[in-house]
Amino acid sequence: MLTLLTAMYLVVRSASTQAEPIRVVVTGAAGQIAYSLLYSIAKGDVFGKDQPIILVLLDIPPMLPVLDGVVMELQDCALPLLREVIPTDEVEVGFKDIDAAILVGSMPRKEGMERKDLLKANVAIFKTQGAALDKYAKKTVKVLVVGNPANTNCLIASKSAPSIPKENFSCLTRLDHNRASSQVAIRCGVSSDKVKNVIIWGNHSSTQYPDVHHAKVDLHGAEMGVYEAVKDEAWLRGDFISTVQLRGAAVIKSRKLSSAMSAAKAICDHMRDIWFGTKEGEFISMGVYAAGNSYGVPEDLIYSFPVQIKNKTWKIVDGLPINDFSRAKMDATAAELVEERDTALDFLSQ
Ligand SMILES: NC(=O)c1ccc[n+]([C@@H]2O[C@H](COP(=O)([O-])OP(=O)(O)OC[C@H]3O[C@@H](n4cnc5c(N)ncnc54)[C@H](O)[C@@H]3O)[C@@H](O)[C@H]2O)c1
Repeated sequence: MLTLLTAMYLVVRSASTQAEPIRVVVTGAAGQIAYSLLYSIAKGDVFGKDQPIILVLLDIPPMLPVLDGVVMELQDCALPLLREVIPTDEVEVGFKDIDAAILVGSMPRKEGMERKDLLKANVAIFKTQGAALDKYAKKTVKVLVVGNPANTNCLIASKSAPSIPKENFSCLTRLDHNRASSQVAIRCGVSSDKVKNVIIWGNHSSTQYPDVHHAKVDLHGAEMGVYEAVKDEAWLRGDFISTVQLRGAAVIKSRKLSSAMSAAKAICDHMRDIWFGTKEGEFISMGVYAAGNSYGVPEDLIYSFPVQIKNKTWKIVDGLPINDFSRAKMDATAAELVEERDTALDFLSQ
């Protein structure tokens, strides 16, 4: 009996270790977020500890020598799941047969650059990459846009890839979500896993609305609402919100570089939840297509909502009661996104 069980275990085990590798592309692969991110992906933190991976690293031509160094380091990590690393500056190679695309690379704001010029440069990048995804990637590809302005870049990529379902595109607001959870946890003196169901509504910008009206804290064994646990409405409606909204700028001011370690961690959290689903009874924040939402958010936007994920499919959590305070903030961030979208769509049609 024991021999039979051992044999069955070995068959199951060898089948799982022989799983087909999945192809994952990271753009901006020579940049600082990618430097933290690639190791986590390659060691199985995102797609599972039994899932072999082919990593495709896409960046622009001047960064190819840097990519060579990243490839060497990935090889030197001697990670068993990492089957191949492909550095490239060509979208045809970068997006070929891709299962998951993490679009980190974008045009950074340069000194004296107008917001509109920045948007224009990024529309060009995400139009090209969307079209390449459309042509070369698997139709089941899951696309996560990180490069800023993340929501609008995601919308442009999706519109440029009409043969890939809109639901396969999302943008990163998980870093903001994690920042909000962490601020509440620190305030309550508990670890961050004791806080759940915070929400980031809207744009990944300083107009985002971190909302804790539906969030819960496990305070030494007793679960309660965040307002009840924190007992400081002025803080929750004031400094808490502005700290989360302005955290990116605060990190840049201090580090002279934008958030990278925490951004990479948030990307892993986001993509792992897409792959394996969210925990029962919990929701997380991500920027998704707003069509059909129950919150009156304009439809043709990538807007951050509370979502639950099952079988690699997200669903917006419907029907949460929204008070006037929240409504005004949700509308303000939507208005910014509408303006950004309209400018971007003008560029897209040129
Ligand atoms: N959504 C979020 O929560 C969040 C958080 C942090 C940073 N970001 C954004 O992520 C982006 C990357 O940040 P970073 O710190 O890694 O920047 P970085 O400047 O260190 O790296 C960016 C990389 O992208 C590459 N790149 C530029 N255009 C490209 C293109 N067309 N194709 C492929 N690669 C291209 C650059 O050459 C560079 O290697 C920025 O736009 C940043 O604002 C978003």
